[in-house]
Amino acid sequence: MTKVTFIEDNGNRIEATAQMGQSLMQVAVNAGVSGISAECGGACACGTCHCYVADGSIILPAPDSDETDMIEFVIDPKANSRLSCQVAITPDLDGLVVHIPASQT
Ligand code: FES
Repeated sequence: MTKVTFIEDNGNRIEATAQMGQSLMQVAVNAGVSGISAECGGACACGTCHCYVADGSIILPAPDSDETDMIEFVIDPKANSRLSCQVAITPDLDGLVVHIPASQT
């Protein structure tokens, strides 16, 4: 079981249980996280699942070139920006903390 904590721009914390095979976006949507609208349904084509992953001991696999290209089009990209639809849930992500950008709310 993988636990993920989402922190919305207003400081609201939502702790969610993620299942293997889900994307981080699917976990956020299922948990009712505000600001992850995922308009393209996870096709890496809209950027509305943009999030920031917290610095820490959990290292995510690097984004592929499609994700990197799309991140260039989101509002306020940072070094820790990710498209949550492109992050696959694995046991290694247990304890991950994800921040929702102000621009998404
Ligand atoms: S849901 Fe559209 S890019 Fe992630």
